[in-house]
Amino acid sequence: MPVITCIDDLKKLHKRRTPKMFYDYAESGSYTEQTFRENTTDFQQLRLRQKVAVDMSGRSTATTMAGFPVSMPVALAPVGLTGMQRADGEIKAARAAAKFGVPFTLSTMSICSIEDVAAHSSAPFWFQLYVMRDEDFVDRIIQRAKDAKCSALVLTLDLQILGQRHKDLKNGLSAPPKLTVPVMLDLATKWRWGLEMLATKRRFFGNIVGHAKGVGDASSLMSWTAEQFDPQLDWGKIGRIRDKWGGKLILKGVLDEDDARRAAEFGADAIIVSNHGGRQLDGALSAIKMLPRIVDAVGDKVEVWMDSGIRSGQDVLKALALGAKGTMIGRSYIYGLGAMGEAGVTKALEVIRKELDISMALCGEKNVKDLGRHNLMIPRIFRAISSKATNLLKKICKFLPKEFVCRAGVFAVCPRVGRSKAA
Ligand SMILES: Cc1cc2nc3c(=O)[nH]c(=O)nc-3n(C[C@H](O)[C@H](O)[C@H](O)COP(=O)(O)O)c2cc1C
Repeated sequence: MPVITCIDDLKKLHKRRTPKMFYDYAESGSYTEQTFRENTTDFQQLRLRQKVAVDMSGRSTATTMAGFPVSMPVALAPVGLTGMQRADGEIKAARAAAKFGVPFTLSTMSICSIEDVAAHSSAPFWFQLYVMRDEDFVDRIIQRAKDAKCSALVLTLDLQILGQRHKDLKNGLSAPPKLTVPVMLDLATKWRWGLEMLATKRRFFGNIVGHAKGVGDASSLMSWTAEQFDPQLDWGKIGRIRDKWGGKLILKGVLDEDDARRAAEFGADAIIVSNHGGRQLDGALSAIKMLPRIVDAVGDKVEVWMDSGIRSGQDVLKALALGAKGTMIGRSYIYGLGAMGEAGVTKALEVIRKELDISMALCGEKNVKDLGRHNLMIPRIFRAISSKATNLLKKICKFLPKEFVCRAGVFAVCPRVGRSKAA
């Protein structure tokens, strides 16, 4: 086994061992990929505060996420087509997560079906739902997730319409891949992937083929999915799904303070601050930049988690220090899966836990639950005026002369602009 010291090592192996079409599918964002890039680079703007002469024995990364005990607050995010990165990929990832003591989330767009993963994994997993126009299909898949004893429903809110990722169009992404000349030339160098894929029957969207009306083969499936995401998803429909499900509900894809407040009032068990790993609205702020604003907006009314851009245990530490109670990783475990199958997912989790543990110790903390903003140097751009401060400012402004209000308003929103205008 090659020496793996960081997630980037797994990414390099993933690229070498997986067909280009599927590596590109994972390693892309929408349009210019600005949000995709900033999801990772923005973490680097947060710096850690070193502490010395603190007893660092007896450390623990264990905590809970929405009441579920976890060995560290890092769940595997739902990732479509995971079973194309490596044969039986969802089963392999679910097994690795169960052994490690972290949650696995199965995507609606998985290759292995809910029933298949339930039959091959030792622990209950979470199911992620995309809301489709076909309400019968939605009701039936919720029932299937209940029957498979899925312990939480992760409802994705940021994909009512598909963001465009250029590489997928250029590569002609499909599951299974169509055997064009470029695809066959590429597969010739990915023989391990091909042999494993030949040995499995799981090569289609397992939750959909045979379950949705009018979907028999892969080609009709591609058009079905393009037409099926429900553009009319709103809070009323989310309420209907909550009632139908009746268990723990996690809302994924929140990136705005008002939406977060609405989700908290709605009574979600947790919300995930996420921009879908930069795959949907290109130009949106990174999830880590939005996190503190959302944490401040909802207070302790709902548990806040985040994903998008986590590539190390230090990134997890920073998210927790900014107020997240949990995190999710997408690509970090997919790199591991594509590199080395189940062992690679385990490796990704080990790398992250070790980095989290060592960095936490050097920050003078023994328990992930004690991490806070005191552990970070936080640039101004990560801070927002809290809603309380905004309301107070509005009240004060009512009693001030107009000229003063304009300057004060600009100053409060953007101190630099305010200063230069006032000067
Ligand atoms: C290849 C790929 C497929 C994804 N498929 C889904 C999906 O089916 N459902 C979903 O809710 N999110 C999906 N996501 C988003 C992830 O759940 C998660 O939000 C994202 O990967 C986090 O960013 P990260 O990859 O930088 O960790 C996908 C992400 C990737 C990279």
